[in-house]
Amino acid sequence: MKGLILSGGKGTRMRPITHTAAKQLLPVANKPILFYGIEAIVDAGIKEIGIIISPETGPAVRTAVGNGDRWGIKIEYILQEEPLGLAHAVKTARPFLKDDTFVMYLGDNLIKDGVAPLVKRFEESHVDAFILLREVSNPSAFGVAHLGSDGRIICLEEKPAKPKSNLALVGVYLFNKNIHTAIDEIKPSKRGELEITDAIQKLIEKNFHVGSHVLQSWWLDTGKKDDMLEANRVVLDEMHDVSMLGAVSEDSKLSGRVHVGKGTVIKGCTIRGPAMIGDNCLIEHSYVGPFTSIGDQTKVSYAELEYCIVRENCQIIDLHGRIEDSLLGANVEITRGQQKPVAYRLMLGDDSKVEVV
Ligand code: TTP
Repeated sequence: MKGLILSGGKGTRMRPITHTAAKQLLPVANKPILFYGIEAIVDAGIKEIGIIISPETGPAVRTAVGNGDRWGIKIEYILQEEPLGLAHAVKTARPFLKDDTFVMYLGDNLIKDGVAPLVKRFEESHVDAFILLREVSNPSAFGVAHLGSDGRIICLEEKPAKPKSNLALVGVYLFNKNIHTAIDEIKPSKRGELEITDAIQKLIEKNFHVGSHVLQSWWLDTGKKDDMLEANRVVLDEMHDVSMLGAVSEDSKLSGRVHVGKGTVIKGCTIRGPAMIGDNCLIEHSYVGPFTSIGDQTKVSYAELEYCIVRENCQIIDLHGRIEDSLLGANVEITRGQQKPVAYRLMLGDDSKVEVV
């Protein structure tokens, strides 16, 4: 069995961060979200992974992930010239997949229990495809499955206006080679994409066996800022092994689970975990509240942060208000200006969002 991780796409819902960065490399608890998917597949005993990349963010993904040596596996990159849909990504990966069975994993998804139990169920049940479902409150935003009273899938629909159930397709799928024939028979949807839901629907129509399992544990699809913050909250909440590798002054108060990276200095601060502070940071005279992750080489001085993801090399200095519910890209500076008149002075990229009080 092989792994196929989809790490192309446009990432429009995460702009402006995705103007310059791959959404799948954004950190959750200071680790790129894509790494969680790779590790889940490795844990299932799979040794060969293909990663779908786009021309824009592919080079950054390759640099961050490498050839798989660090996980003891082989990673191959598959360029998808245009984001023409999940089924199109599978089609593009056909030379890599050959006729092997494979687990397909959306590179911006996280599932609590990983994929090993699903791979086992897929192999034991001898079905042609196996999908995961999860109850959601907003099914119109997802692929949705309608199940019969016996639990069999009756039909699948992509982002339906009037969903027939609240069971969304989770971004992890298992397939055998029959999915390729189904993909060859579908047409692009109204939004111009080859939809994987249509391909699975085609398998059902052709009387292939499609198994399903309704997940009870968490699943996170990190397409938007608030989803990323929620993923960070959930992962930090479950983080139990924290290390204290930096220097914390006596006048600082750390409570709860707080990871402090190598070379980091913390002076005169209150830090309430769960929180993750990277390497070589300076955090001084500040408050860092629960569910916050701070990337390497970041400076926080006379400021307050809570429920945030701050990437590497940021400077957050001398603020009066608290920053909450925020996602800051790399190298962001937020400082207090000395110039008169007193005013907000901003340099924001396209699609930036700022809320002031
Ligand atoms: P989506 O989140 O559905 O699409 P997107 O990443 O383009 O984001 P947006 O809707 O905000 O524009 O994609 C799910 C995952 O699959 C994500 O990791 C990107 C990847 N993907 C591909 O690799 N190729 C594709 O053609 C598409 C549509 C997505």
